[in-house]
Amino acid sequence: MESVSHMPTILGCFLGIICLHFIYSRLSNPLSRIPGPSIAKWTDLVYLYYWFAGKVPHYVHDLHEKYGPIVRTGLNKVDVCDIYAVKEIHKTNSRFLKSAWYRTLLPNGLENVFSTTDPHFHSTRRRLLASPISDSSLHQHEGLIEGRVHLAISRMAEEVQSRGVVDVFKWWLFMATDIIGELSFGESFRMLEIGEKTQYSLDLERISTLQPIRTTFPTLVNLGKYLPLPVFKRTIACGKRMVMYSSQSVDRYKKMIDENPSNPKKTLFTKLFDTEKSGVSLDDIKKEAQGYIVAGSDTTAVTLTYLTYAVCGNSQIRDKLVAEVAALSEPIHDNDLRNLPYLNMVISETLRLHTAVPFGLPRAVPSEGAKFNGYFLPSGATVSTQSYSLHRDPTVFPDPYTFNPERWENPTKEMKDISMPFGGGSRICIGLHLARMELRLGTALFFREFPNAQRSDKEGMGPKDMEMQSFLLMGPRGHRCLIET
Ligand code: HEM
Repeated sequence: MESVSHMPTILGCFLGIICLHFIYSRLSNPLSRIPGPSIAKWTDLVYLYYWFAGKVPHYVHDLHEKYGPIVRTGLNKVDVCDIYAVKEIHKTNSRFLKSAWYRTLLPNGLENVFSTTDPHFHSTRRRLLASPISDSSLHQHEGLIEGRVHLAISRMAEEVQSRGVVDVFKWWLFMATDIIGELSFGESFRMLEIGEKTQYSLDLERISTLQPIRTTFPTLVNLGKYLPLPVFKRTIACGKRMVMYSSQSVDRYKKMIDENPSNPKKTLFTKLFDTEKSGVSLDDIKKEAQGYIVAGSDTTAVTLTYLTYAVCGNSQIRDKLVAEVAALSEPIHDNDLRNLPYLNMVISETLRLHTAVPFGLPRAVPSEGAKFNGYFLPSGATVSTQSYSLHRDPTVFPDPYTFNPERWENPTKEMKDISMPFGGGSRICIGLHLARMELRLGTALFFREFPNAQRSDKEGMGPKDMEMQSFLLMGPRGHRCLIET
């Protein structure tokens, strides 16, 4: 009897000890000295709220404006907005490796050159993949890319005829997806020809908005088929379809090579199919191809969409760009565009203000810890540097919220150092040369075809549609961008 009557006291003491331990562990965390909202010391809930709302870059940016260049954003998370941090964290062979979070981004923790956290795996794989997508190798695919851009523009012209407006986001997305599909699998998804959203394009669109679910509840997503929750089922189904598409397409290409081994249609992965030489299995090629499709379609399409929208919103900028591209003589090749001054300034300004990856790229602090802005970060903490804030630093970019291509006429060293639309160091975007080629051709051909393009308010289109919704990738909240010509 006596031992039963002591039970509540023992339980109370036990709970008390747990509470004290909880409070002590939170207050003694070395991150507790770093400026930031008090809530970040206790829970990640506020951060998660913004992650699900697609507003983390805006939230973290507000924190920087309030607390300064280094802020604690969550229990174990810090964001730094500073050139030195960018150089240190994103240098070649940096000891700040991608955090484990990247593995939760892709279905089933899929490991490929984008998601891997293992530096050895990364350098071996990247060495194999880099050469076919380098600036010089891309020349052999230029005809294909130019053809797809021309087709996109003519499909846009048809839509203007029939609808009175053109949804440029839709067509840029179809174009970028067809290009990376054909370069990866040897055949296009034919989205430009079909002209309507397919299950595949809807999955691609959805994959970004499902990232919060995937990264916050990775175990639940894996168990999703046993749970009666539609959102987990949808996340799983979308992931499965993405795996299936790339699997079927790679199998088809493999068959094509087997049938015509001496002269296969060249893709970015052709060399890897010689699995004995490359050491890469067919399964791994599928994982890489899937990564390329996701990383290489939305990013380019979103950049082109915001470029079109920004230029169409300012007739002075538009007319200057139109005059430059109108002076080119047909046929237009990428080589004619590489050194066009104003076109390239417009692209740089778009990559600054409307970067498709505005989210901090989280890295794990190495075993020896790190020091930024006078604060110590222990091993195991996650540090990020978000381009959304770096690209709006008013000391580097005066009047940072204004779209002003002229600022790139003579860029300062600070402007170049702090700009990271494609990331940096060993993990810099592998597709940046392809992306730049698509941006140059897309911009030049669009403003030659539609010199009077302007923003439309038809069909209820308004600035709300173009609000930036940011998961890892950013996109227009309304999933459309209507332009009149
Ligand atoms: C305007 C278009 C693009 C933008 C803004 C962009 C941006 C980025 C950024 C910021 C990263 C670094 C991610 C990190 O460190 O966490 C990255 C990596 C990557 N991007 Fe892109 N990207 C674009 C186009 C492309 C294209 C066309 C491809 C097609 C192959 C591609 C494939 C990749 C891959 C595979 C990685 C991982 C590289 C590695 O870790 O070694 N991207 N991209």
